Amino acid sequence: MTERIVLAYSGGLDTSVAIGWIGEATGAEVIAVAVDVGQGGESLETIRQRALGCGAVEAYVADASDEFADEYCMPTLKANALYQGHYPLVSAISRPVIVKHLVKAAREFGATTVAHGCTGKGNDQVRFEVGIQTLGPDLKCIAPVRDLALTRDKAIAFAEEKGLPIETTKKNPYSIDQNVWGRAVETGYLEDIWNAPTKDIYDYTATPEFPPAPDEVTISFEAGVPVAIDGVKVTPLQAIKELNRRAGAQGVGRIDVVEDRLVGIKSREIYEAPGAMALITAHKHLEDITVEREQARFKATVGQRWSELVYDGQWFSPLKRSLDAFIEDTQKYVSGDIRMTLHGGQAVVNGRRSETSLYDFDLATYDTGDTFDQSMARGFIELWGMSAKVASGRDIRVAGK
Ligand code: ARG
Repeated sequence: MTERIVLAYSGGLDTSVAIGWIGEATGAEVIAVAVDVGQGGESLETIRQRALGCGAVEAYVADASDEFADEYCMPTLKANALYQGHYPLVSAISRPVIVKHLVKAAREFGATTVAHGCTGKGNDQVRFEVGIQTLGPDLKCIAPVRDLALTRDKAIAFAEEKGLPIETTKKNPYSIDQNVWGRAVETGYLEDIWNAPTKDIYDYTATPEFPPAPDEVTISFEAGVPVAIDGVKVTPLQAIKELNRRAGAQGVGRIDVVEDRLVGIKSREIYEAPGAMALITAHKHLEDITVEREQARFKATVGQRWSELVYDGQWFSPLKRSLDAFIEDTQKYVSGDIRMTLHGGQAVVNGRRSETSLYDFDLATYDTGDTFDQSMARGFIELWGMSAKVASGRDIRVAGK
């Protein structure tokens, strides 16, 4: 029987050419797998037809946008996940959901190998292949760009020679990856890290220098998940989309960073994640009133470690699963409303309310009638400082000898 390979297919030039390229190099039949993670653009049907037109024996297309929002974006929100304090893991969280569908398609169509279009320099090859190893340990991996010398020039020549139904003249100077959680743009002019991004780079956000009138929004959460916007019930996917639209119009969520790739390279990336950044900001502020102090402090550390694991391609790892359990437990009381103003590139929280709040007005107030007994503070401070005081006494004693 002819060997079969499932290919992660975007519909673009490189993966369209990869179908025939893999076929010629390996003699295998190629099955194209296209997964909708809310990236917008062409319909799955258009992409399916192109895959078949480029020589795929079968095309597997899946609308995974709700699955992606529910099972990948929401855990990222609950973790307030920002890799290196900046990056909301846009591409990193889309790889595991694509992997799930690749493995499912491999089983359905009897494939032995999984192929993807990543280069040998980035994080995404690691995320795909570590994910495949975990969910389908018997499956092999191949990356035509990395392993079969499929360069851009060769791809264009191949497409023209074979008359593939794909545009080869459109020149995009950037490498772009996008989904409903955000958009990532790199390469070209941006590789000079002194160059400011130009306007043409952005698509999810409007220039914040000339914002429309401020937009006030109320986001309601239940157990860490957005459930309503301005009182209108929403699914996680709808919440992200609505905030992409409204926060995007105000230029919220533009991020320009040089980040540490897993393979040891520092690289410059421009992100736009208006919905994600508005949601993370709101969620964090709701945690501030609903999560107990020690739990909250420890959760920040856990969230950072969680972000690193996910960035590093360990979505399906045991440690990530254990941290998920901790994070989930902290979300039990993260319910309530956050009022925020979207304006001029900023999402600023200016009101919060919750039935499960730990904010106690009577304890906090400086007005008369407060219930906090200030006389307890003296003794508390005495004991709190005792250990350091004893140690410093010893330091002075030893230094004097
Ligand atoms: N650097 C980011 C990451 O590793 C995004 C990579 C996405 N690719 C792109 N062509 N911009 O998660």
